[in-house]
Amino acid sequence: MKQIILGAFEINGVNLTSQGVWAHPDQHTHRYKDLSYWIELARLLERGFFDFLFLADSYGYPSLGGETPEVAFRQAVEIPKNDPMLLIPALAAATEHLSFAVTSSSTFEQPYANARRFATLDHLTGGRIAWNVVTTSSAVVADLFGREPVAHDERYAMAQDFLTLSYKLLEGSWEDGSVLADKAARRYADPAKIHQVVHEGPYYRSTGYFNCEPSPQRVPVLVQAGASATGRAFAAANAELVFLQGKDAPMLREQVADLRRRAGEQGRDPDSVKTISGLSVVTAPTREEAERKLDDYLSYVDPEAARVYYASMTGIDLAALDPDAHFSTVRTEGGRTQVERYKDSTVREATADFLRRGMREFILTGTPQELAEEIGRLVEDTGLDGFNYTPFVSPGSYADLVDDVIPELQKLGLVRENYGRGTFRERLFGSAHLPADHPAAQFRPGREAGA
Ligand SMILES: Cc1cc2nc3c(=O)[nH]c(=O)nc-3n(C[C@H](O)[C@H](O)[C@H](O)COP(=O)(O)O)c2cc1C
Repeated sequence: MKQIILGAFEINGVNLTSQGVWAHPDQHTHRYKDLSYWIELARLLERGFFDFLFLADSYGYPSLGGETPEVAFRQAVEIPKNDPMLLIPALAAATEHLSFAVTSSSTFEQPYANARRFATLDHLTGGRIAWNVVTTSSAVVADLFGREPVAHDERYAMAQDFLTLSYKLLEGSWEDGSVLADKAARRYADPAKIHQVVHEGPYYRSTGYFNCEPSPQRVPVLVQAGASATGRAFAAANAELVFLQGKDAPMLREQVADLRRRAGEQGRDPDSVKTISGLSVVTAPTREEAERKLDDYLSYVDPEAARVYYASMTGIDLAALDPDAHFSTVRTEGGRTQVERYKDSTVREATADFLRRGMREFILTGTPQELAEEIGRLVEDTGLDGFNYTPFVSPGSYADLVDDVIPELQKLGLVRENYGRGTFRERLFGSAHLPADHPAAQFRPGREAGA
């Protein structure tokens, strides 16, 4: 069987995706402010041969009808949370192989500053960095930044312009071989090989030199997770690692095939896009015990907090809808992924499902051996390349996976037995840089296609 890509889904805050589970006795996320918590976690992930730690993020917090319900503060729904990017150099220093994917919003960040941060992280991690490119729908964030909210499809048009400028800065400013660092000749860099970038896009303009020298990967590994039709088109054009969201294997199989087809239509090798989806496992010596353990975690979900969390992602208050209405009739200018996921369900079914899962995809229970076999079947049934492991409690859910399930996955050949070397992109695709058929490649000096 093919080896899977394994990521850990984290947020630099108190709740992950199941609102209320922060209060479970085995939960240690309240330590999120301590670097030691993250260092211990990163080392645990490396012990389990994880490929990367994914740090999701947004500036937002819930708002319903313009007000932040008190439950958001009481249950720490998306507030408080710290900036995840600032953890990464410390975690890179504490690990050798683990890569880091971190969210940065194309709707609210500035392309030049963002590219510079990622280039710096690529240097400091030795090429172990990925950028989860998100468009941000939150009206709360628009208010926080003093901006007008941007409509759904326009957010993706902005994101494409943001990426195009990022490609020019990261690929087009400093040629290979521009840095000499020749002390004897007293020449640090060769001016003939360093070029001004000129960008006059529909949303962003920039003229001048990028002020970071080329980093190991140049462009960070590009991650994307929008599942709307526009989001998928954007992913097919740009992304290398796509987080798919579906509620079952057939839905994911269809998404994997659709994404690969779209990447091909964009002139990209379909194999240059890897797909992963969420996975939670709860394990115990018997399936019954594992199910009881899951029920215990879920008993901490706060329904009111979950509803508020759903609204903050989608702009939709589930309680304001007719429970018997069909979800396919629901429309939003917010994030569409969590709406399209329920297109075949009633509002009542969708609400019940969301309370159980949050944003999770697969939740598997069983003995370590049963789980390993089921994960193998999921890979075969869907064509997925891997999973974003989403814990219920941290670090306990990771320890369960690493100590009990990973050895079984290794027996099936699904998880590696030692790490290779190289940048994140080399580990995923065998090359440190984006391939020639990726849109960023056209901005390499000598291949400049114009502003
Ligand atoms: C695994 C996963 C991680 C995500 N992480 C973030 C994140 O860190 N920040 C964010 O604002 N949105 C995040 N999202 C949401 C998506 O990036 C996207 O904005 C959302 O699905 C709406 O996209 P759409 O309008 O194309 O449906 C994540 C989604 C998934 C499945």
